[in-house]
Amino acid sequence: MKLTMKKALTGSVIAIGALIAGMSVASAAGGGSDYEMKHKDWHFQGMSGTYDRAAMQRGYQVYREVCSACHQLKHLSFRHLGDKGGPYYDELYKNPNDNPDVKAFAADWDVEVVDLDTGDIETRPGIPADQFPAIYPNDAAAAASNNGKAPPDLSVIVKARVGGADYIYNVLTSYDKDDVMMNKAMGGQIAMANPLSDGLVEYADGTPATVDQMAMDVTEFLAWSADPKMEARKSLGFAVMLYLFILSILLWFSYRAVWRNVKH
Ligand code: HEC
Repeated sequence: MKLTMKKALTGSVIAIGALIAGMSVASAAGGGSDYEMKHKDWHFQGMSGTYDRAAMQRGYQVYREVCSACHQLKHLSFRHLGDKGGPYYDELYKNPNDNPDVKAFAADWDVEVVDLDTGDIETRPGIPADQFPAIYPNDAAAAASNNGKAPPDLSVIVKARVGGADYIYNVLTSYDKDDVMMNKAMGGQIAMANPLSDGLVEYADGTPATVDQMAMDVTEFLAWSADPKMEARKSLGFAVMLYLFILSILLWFSYRAVWRNVKH
């Protein structure tokens, strides 16, 4: 009897362990053709992985200074940058609308709004509650300015592409040396001319801005924008595991106490 219980307990510990291991196996699928995807050890992978805040902040800088010329972040508002878990979260400002960094980043954009009195469209500096503005009036205009292909929205692209973060990083680092429109990760011709070159941005934190560094940082930022609740979800998962583990131990001891004086 005791033995079976012990077995059952061991079994449940193994099951919990397997679950933990399973959670850390990310959706690692490869891209098409004979191209070998380069795999990176992302900070946010695994059961306890979190976003690297400094990398996200550098990534936002890359997005703002480079990618935002063509790509929108449709599903994001400026205030999200200051949400808990976001790149510019600050404990002093639980409400990101009050966060000075967030306000400054919002004000750095021009946002079109309709004047409710006159019905006219006017342009004013952004405020934290605004969505990231569209770059082009519509897809046709976007395609017309970009070799016939509209630049896709980037806010959820890490989730939308097979290979996720690795894929985005590979696209940004697999351009042909001599032809800015040829990309190995995209299987040849691409409508996005190589957007990165060494030293393109000057990082606020002094990190050398190599192509590889910028590609990793902007990918980190886009991984967050595609899944801003990941950290909260993981810490809840951990609490549940801990709870189950403690429950198993309590059950074991109460089993022993209950059956202590029973002969079998
Ligand atoms: C000059 C405009 C322009 C800039 C700047 C630009 N892109 Fe693009 N991007 C495009 C266009 C156009 C496409 C569509 C390419 C295609 O489908 O051939 C694209 C496609 C992409 C794709 C998607 C590939 C796919 O699977 O569909 C990613 C990811 C991407 N860009 C990321 C970025 C990032 C990150 C930056 C900033 C470092 C950036 N882009 C800067 C125009 C641009």
